[in-house]
Amino acid sequence: MSKFKAVVVGAGGISGAWFPPLLAEKVNIVGVVDINVAAARQRAEEHKLACETSDNLAGTLKRTRPDFVVDLTIPEAHGKVVCTALRHGCHVIGEKPMAGSMAEARRMVRAAREAEKLYMVSQSRRYDAVHDAARRLIASGKIGKITTVQCDFFMGAHFGGFREEMPSPLILDMAIHHFDLARYFTGLDPRAVYAKEFNPAGSWYQGDVSASCIFEMSDGAMFTYRGSWCAEGCPTSWNGSWRFIGEKGTILLENDQPARGQVVAGDKPAFHVKLKDIHAPKPTLKFLKQHGALREFLAYLRTGRQPQGECHDNIKSLAMVFAAIESNQKSKRLAVRV
Ligand SMILES: NC(=O)c1ccc[n+]([C@@H]2O[C@H](COP(=O)([O-])OP(=O)(O)OC[C@H]3O[C@@H](n4cnc5c(N)ncnc54)[C@H](O)[C@@H]3O)[C@@H](O)[C@H]2O)c1
Repeated sequence: MSKFKAVVVGAGGISGAWFPPLLAEKVNIVGVVDINVAAARQRAEEHKLACETSDNLAGTLKRTRPDFVVDLTIPEAHGKVVCTALRHGCHVIGEKPMAGSMAEARRMVRAAREAEKLYMVSQSRRYDAVHDAARRLIASGKIGKITTVQCDFFMGAHFGGFREEMPSPLILDMAIHHFDLARYFTGLDPRAVYAKEFNPAGSWYQGDVSASCIFEMSDGAMFTYRGSWCAEGCPTSWNGSWRFIGEKGTILLENDQPARGQVVAGDKPAFHVKLKDIHAPKPTLKFLKQHGALREFLAYLRTGRQPQGECHDNIKSLAMVFAAIESNQKSKRLAVRV
């Protein structure tokens, strides 16, 4: 058994992706909490956990005194759950998105700072072997300084349920992944955005499910995002199709295949200069998705090494979401503020 004790809050769909890595890392799960206590009990039984199940987080924290809390509740509950855990002296790792509003997210970041505890948001798509290799190819400098990034995400997605009724389903529920990936791949941060959301003719969604966003990033780079969940035919992958242009070449990341590209090969002047192919290094990332995030979190507890998704950093990805929505509402370019 690892020396770390944890309480898991939220026993819904995504918890199925968290219990196996928690158990593989020998974390001692001392409590499972859900407002639907039957769901908490069911998960505990499924994983043969002889632990407390309850619908009262504060009570469970007082009784079990864990080192950390895993927040797998719905976005609107993250603020309350995370702040309660921090107040009880726990570190927190939680699912994206950090919160349902920027005001709430700022409160959570402040609470982590005041408690002097880690609050890490898990963005599972950062822990993907193809993405890791693509990021290393971009960082190798072969295409030079990044000037332009594009991401296309198109899919006909018939979820039914809340996504078809909410406003901004694409930007709020999906684009957080792509916006965070843009920061992950390039190391650039958002500065400003102009966004237009819309609901195409024939849409089965009530809210605006398509969008085009132009982000001005740090270092003068531009990131253009085009996406829709209401686009039948020729879908992209869930991770989107990416093009990274640098001063010396281009890298493509498409259909979840290893990144590849072309760079300038000679210095002879010509209309089309000579190019040579470049390829991503071999994928080496061992711990994927939620397991990768958990490994970084546990490494912080052991060594103090800062993980990706630390809340002061992750709030920048969330800020892209809310700035894009506000830009659309106001029909104007807005600064992205954290
Ligand atoms: N990384 C990914 O790719 C990915 C995929 C799916 C969901 N998620 C994220 O995971 C989170 C949970 O999503 P889900 O699909 O499991 O939702 P879900 O609705 O299936 O489960 C959420 C659970 O949280 C419980 N809950 C709600 N409020 C609570 C509170 N205040 N205290 C305790 N329990 C509470 C609910 O009763 C429910 O059992 C969301 O933030 C979602 O965006 C991430």
